Amino acid sequence: MAAIIVVGAQWGDEGKGKVVDLISAQADMVVRFAGGANAGHTLKVGGQKLVTHLLPSGVMHPGARCVLGAGVVVAPEILADEIATCEARGLGVTPRLLISRRAHVTFPFQSAIDRAANAGPRSIGTTGRGIGPTYSDKAARIGVRLGDLVHGARAADRVGALVEVWAERARAAGVTAPTVEGALAWVAPYMEVIGPLLGDASIAVDEAIRAGKKVVFEGAQGTLLDLDHGTYPFVTSSSTVSGGACTGVGVGPTRITGVVGITKAYCTRVGHGIFPTELLGEAGDRLREVGEEYGATTGRPRRCGWLDLPALRYAARVNGLTALAVTKVDVLAGLPEVPLCVAYRLDGVETNEFPVDDLDRAEPVFLNMPGWDASVSEARTMDALPETVRNYLREIEQRTGVEVAIVSIGADRDATVVRREVLV
Ligand code: GDP
Ligand code: IMO
Ligand code: MG
Repeated sequence: MAAIIVVGAQWGDEGKGKVVDLISAQADMVVRFAGGANAGHTLKVGGQKLVTHLLPSGVMHPGARCVLGAGVVVAPEILADEIATCEARGLGVTPRLLISRRAHVTFPFQSAIDRAANAGPRSIGTTGRGIGPTYSDKAARIGVRLGDLVHGARAADRVGALVEVWAERARAAGVTAPTVEGALAWVAPYMEVIGPLLGDASIAVDEAIRAGKKVVFEGAQGTLLDLDHGTYPFVTSSSTVSGGACTGVGVGPTRITGVVGITKAYCTRVGHGIFPTELLGEAGDRLREVGEEYGATTGRPRRCGWLDLPALRYAARVNGLTALAVTKVDVLAGLPEVPLCVAYRLDGVETNEFPVDDLDRAEPVFLNMPGWDASVSEARTMDALPETVRNYLREIEQRTGVEVAIVSIGADRDATVVRREVLV
């Protein structure tokens, strides 16, 4: 039996898709636990590319059951489209897909207001996928759950409660007010696809764990985008850390056997908000071009900077990481030196803790590590990695207290060094 949680240890886009796809070859079940179509997880196998927004990154593996937990928010049109894309590619995902009937639904009026807010003075640069409004409505107890939509009377009642509030908001904003009939008619064709796949994700996951199966919980976004523990208010609206897997699926923490944190060998961020190690000039442009750092969901250029080890140490603590996967090591090849942020200076005092509440006043402290060349991409074992890479990884391990179990040196599934199997 193995039940591991995979989380992003930075601001998202760490390569969760690649690593979860790799691990899923041995998995019986892959479960998304939070976020929605704001996620964009890229899978590359033999030159073929697939980007998943809502479906778990186990889709490529015929032996992996794919589950969406209650903590996920679902844009029905995007989910239906993604299922159709996977079917067209012959992945046969429908018979192995289970979607929690408790997952909340995003309606077009919720996405529209999210996009409108991006143009405002207090924009945080969201993905415009209606994530904030959907989770807000859930917390305000006016949200609609997928399971509500398959019962006629309940559907009208629940959608009615939501539309009542949104009609008021629309009037205030001077835009067309949504109606119950309109919302139900919009969602009906998508529910024809989704409705038959609804069930109880908590029971399914519990049964799998009890039967000794291998289960992977796939996070979305990253630790620093977590609603409670991220760089608030420039965060997403869900619990992205490992604890979110338990609440988001309905599984107890005693069932979890490991937590893998994914980190790039450098740092990126999409959207607004503080980013202390950000590179604004040519060095940042180089990382963006070599690393192809453009959003998998919105296509926006990602901001790039050096690896922040206090932030990673912070992620190790809040997630209880038992292993790290370090991705995109190949992108740094060719640099004579690779600066690593190893501490912060705050009020004249150096600290190796991430000053998450005082980042605007803190100054990163760097250690220059010797670089490596492009031969790094050919390695398939730790010993075959250049010594300078091994030193870089050792520095990460020593300063975070977490072992590096996986090293990714290219986007393709095969371009990986597995030092220790994590799904055991
Ligand atoms: P996720 O949201 O965490 O799943 O990450 P994304 O898919 O949004 O972004 C990661 C990007 O880096 C994708 O384009 C991946 O194909 C790519 N990628 C992942 N690992 C590596 C790697 O080791 N090297 C390179 N060059 N690209 C990688
Ligand atoms: P994956 O799963 C990177 C960022 C947005 C914005 C903030 C809030 O691919 O790693 P939201 O739409 O969630 O309300 O936006 O969070 N963001 C992500 N950044 N990767 C993601 O997902 C993200 N999901 C949200 O850019 O700054
Ligand atoms: Mg992504």
